[in-house]
This record gives sequence, structure tokens and C-alpha cells, in this order.
Amino acid sequence: MRIPATRGPVSSALFAVLAQAPDAPGLDLEGLCRLVAGHVARSGDIIGDEDLQLALFCLYELHYSGLDGVSDNWEWEPGLIRVRQVIEEPFEAALRAAAQQAAGNVELPAGVALSSDEVAEVLFGLAAMDTGPSVSRYVARKASLEQLKEFLVHKSMYQLKEADPHTWAIPRLSGRPKAALVEIQADEYGGGRPERMHSALFARTMGGLDLDHSYGAYVDSVPAVSLASVNLMSLCGLNRRLRGAITGHLAIYEMTSSQPNRFYANGFRRHGFGPDVTHYFDEHVEADAVHEQIAGRDLAGGLVEAEPELLADVLFGATAVMAIDNRLSAHLMAAWESGKSSLRAAVPAAA
Ligand SMILES: [Fe+2]
Ligand SMILES: [Fe+2]
Repeated sequence: MRIPATRGPVSSALFAVLAQAPDAPGLDLEGLCRLVAGHVARSGDIIGDEDLQLALFCLYELHYSGLDGVSDNWEWEPGLIRVRQVIEEPFEAALRAAAQQAAGNVELPAGVALSSDEVAEVLFGLAAMDTGPSVSRYVARKASLEQLKEFLVHKSMYQLKEADPHTWAIPRLSGRPKAALVEIQADEYGGGRPERMHSALFARTMGGLDLDHSYGAYVDSVPAVSLASVNLMSLCGLNRRLRGAITGHLAIYEMTSSQPNRFYANGFRRHGFGPDVTHYFDEHVEADAVHEQIAGRDLAGGLVEAEPELLADVLFGATAVMAIDNRLSAHLMAAWESGKSSLRAAVPAAA
């Protein structure tokens, strides 16, 4: 991914550091840490903070496909990991608070031994809560072509690397939950056929609307909350202690996918697009009806049976998705219903 435009003092200072080699003389990572800590302390809303979410997104990107012109040696540089933690710690705290709110009055089980079926039942109950504005219904019935493009641009920050953040969890699991995760991921990665990888299907959908599907092409266009939804996954995927949360995250993702994807496909068909564009959504209607069962029972449920103390984190992962998704949906609907763009900058034409 190319280095994005800066959004404030933190991203500016971070990108200036990353432009140099980790062993370059005179680098002041402790100074960067202090600057970030100061900004974090002043930020009233870390989930919506453009500068901090962009910086965190780029720090995580070092673990995925890297940043253009940035040395791979930065990935495990202890001083830079510390900078990441200075953002991660309050980000996680804010997510936990938002997740608790998203669960509303639902009494979540705690401190009890649940069977895998019982875990799945709790998760299906959470997934069935209709707490936020429905973007999928709007896309199906009303969204303009421009809004469909915006919708794809928001989603592209994750969907062009679909499944990668959950894959970090594979070596952190064993037995039944591990086998379940591998079974789901094998589908996400196309079952051995690169053209069927979900990320490749999504790229084809973008191409059908003349959008640039190279990874990160629109990073400057998406707001903090879109980046935060991906940062949530990277946070839970890259930290072993949050392995419960990443399984809860995937379970809710799969459980809330089938029906909305049917609506999304209908929205694109309404504008005359054919199977090359809708395949991505149609595929998820089918696949996720199967994945939700595996993710709920065998993955999240199987993990809680093996490690009962992870129940709270499984539920944190699940409710954190709901919190962030609701916030992103509210952002989209507020913009669209008042005739404004939901993006920070207009979508540049595809190269
Ligand atoms: Fe998928
Ligand atoms: Fe899936």
C-alpha cells in the first residue's frame, strides 16, 4: 500500500520516521511515543480520531503487505511496537466500552461453563439484535450509483484483504476450533483457486464499477470509523491474548452476513449490474449460511469449551463488531440521507 496523506501530527511524525531505516542515526522513537501519548490523552474519541486511526492502520499494515518505500525491518522494531501499544491500549478500552453499550440490556453469561451449542445460541441471539440503521436495505432500494461506489470504497479497506486478520488466529488455536477456522478460511481463500478468493471476487465487483481495486487505493477517502473497523480485527488477530475476541468477531461477522449480502446484490442488480459485479455478494449469501454454523459452534463454541475463561472475550469480540458496524452504518445513513458524501474526499477515477 502506498503511504497515505497525513491527517495530523501523529501520522505526520510516524510517516517521517517510517521513511527512514530503523537503524538510521538520530531517530527518536521515544519522542514519537511521547507525541502519540500526548495526542491520545487529548483525543476525546479515539474510535473516530482520524489521525490516530490512520496511524494505527499503517502500523498494522507493516504486518500485512507492508507500505511502499518502508523497510520491512520496521515490523518488529521494539520502539515502534511500543508506539503501536500506546494507541492500542486506549483503543481497546474504548472498544470495550462501546461493546458494552452495543449489548444494551442483554444479560451476557459470565463465569459459567457453557457448551459449544450454548455459546452459539448466545451469539445467534446477539446477531439477531437489530440495533442499528440498515445500510443493506437502503442499498437494496434507494442507493444511487455514486452511493454504491462509496459503499464499495468503505468496504475495500477490508474486503481486498478479506479473511487475513482472522488467519492470524490459526496458530493460536488447536483441535476443534483450529480445524473450524481453517475450514472457513479455505473457502474465504477460494479453496485453492485464486480467482475464487473472496478478495478477488470483491476486486471484480469494484472493477465492474470502474473503481481502482489495488489495495489501499482509496485509503485517503475513508473516514476514521472505516479504518477503526479494520483496526479492530487486526488488534484482535495480532494479539494472542485476544484469540477469544477474534473468534467472536468472526462468528458475528458470518452470522450477520447472509441476509445483508442478498440485499446488497439486489441493489447492484437494480442498477443493471450483472453476475460479474454481484457474484461477490451472491457467494456470501450461500457460503455464510454454512460459515455461521461452523463459526458459532465449532470455532467460538469449541474454543470456549476448551478454554472457558475466554467466554468474556468471545462476547467482547462479537459485541465490538456490532458497536463499530452500528457507528459506521449511522455515519453512512446520516451522510446519504442528507445528500452528502460519506467519504472524506471524492473518489478519484480508476487509473
Ligand atoms: Fe468471505
Ligand atoms: Fe464467510
